[in-house]
Amino acid sequence: MEKLNGKKIVVAGATGGIGSSLVKLLVQSGAEVFITGRNNEKLSNIAASHGIPSSHFLAADISDGAQMELLADTVLSRIGTPDILINLAGIGIIKPMEQLSLDDFSRSIQTNLIGAFLFVKSFLPAMKEVKKGLIINVPGVLGKVPMAGAAAYSASKYGIVGMMQSIREELKRTEIRITNLFLGGVDSPFWDEIDLRVQKDKMIREEEAARSIWFLCQQPASGVVSEMVLQPFNHQAI
Ligand SMILES: NC(=O)c1ccc[n+]([C@@H]2O[C@H](COP(=O)([O-])OP(=O)(O)OC[C@H]3O[C@@H](n4cnc5c(N)ncnc54)[C@H](OP(=O)(O)O)[C@@H]3O)[C@@H](O)[C@H]2O)c1
Repeated sequence: MEKLNGKKIVVAGATGGIGSSLVKLLVQSGAEVFITGRNNEKLSNIAASHGIPSSHFLAADISDGAQMELLADTVLSRIGTPDILINLAGIGIIKPMEQLSLDDFSRSIQTNLIGAFLFVKSFLPAMKEVKKGLIINVPGVLGKVPMAGAAAYSASKYGIVGMMQSIREELKRTEIRITNLFLGGVDSPFWDEIDLRVQKDKMIREEEAARSIWFLCQQPASGVVSEMVLQPFNHQAI
């Protein structure tokens, strides 16, 4: 396993259920973590509870190109080129087609897909210069299998898979590794606004989902876990 001690890691979506659990594990392993999300107060609280200095967080909207450029500039000047980029920023709009508006669809694509694009694009020049690194996205199971009501969400998450697989082709002359994690349902605030009957007690716990990403961060650089699937035992879709 690769040691995380001293590794520079940027976590987007660090204020979320999975993200905040992950930050804790990464800090405990000695990584130098830079965290981002939109909510400055949450970022500040998470930083304070894990001893992350105020220079190591910035509120930014992942769907905004200028804000992602500013984020990358800030990270590069404060910690240098990241060894690992982790994107956990995302929204879930799950509705049948009759209720799904164009705005719902656009917001899903703008945050989940264009956001993932902007996040990677803003850091890629620096990572290409050093020719190494690891980029982790979490398309989730709905980036691989369909579900009724998930037209917008799945469009954005399938999009991430195609986009990252294409970027991987461009990076073949570097040692930048790309990992897509297909998580099944995780009991996190993600489900709070979703009007669907879900059995949260049957879902993966946030801490377990975070541990799977922590595990991915430690894979030896000689190989690459291009995909990993982690699903609730009682609800295996793949
Ligand atoms: N929970 C599940 O069942 C599940 C399953 C598979 C995949 N996933 C994926 O895993 C990721 C994390 O999920 P989670 O369960 O931790 O969800 P969560 O608790 O709802 O967290 C979502 C995170 O995304 C951030 N975010 C949302 N919109 C953003 C924007 N425009 N700009 C920047 N950050 C934004 C939120 O931060 P702010 O509010 O601070 O902006 C928050 O940190 C998501 O991509 C989700 O699609 C989740």
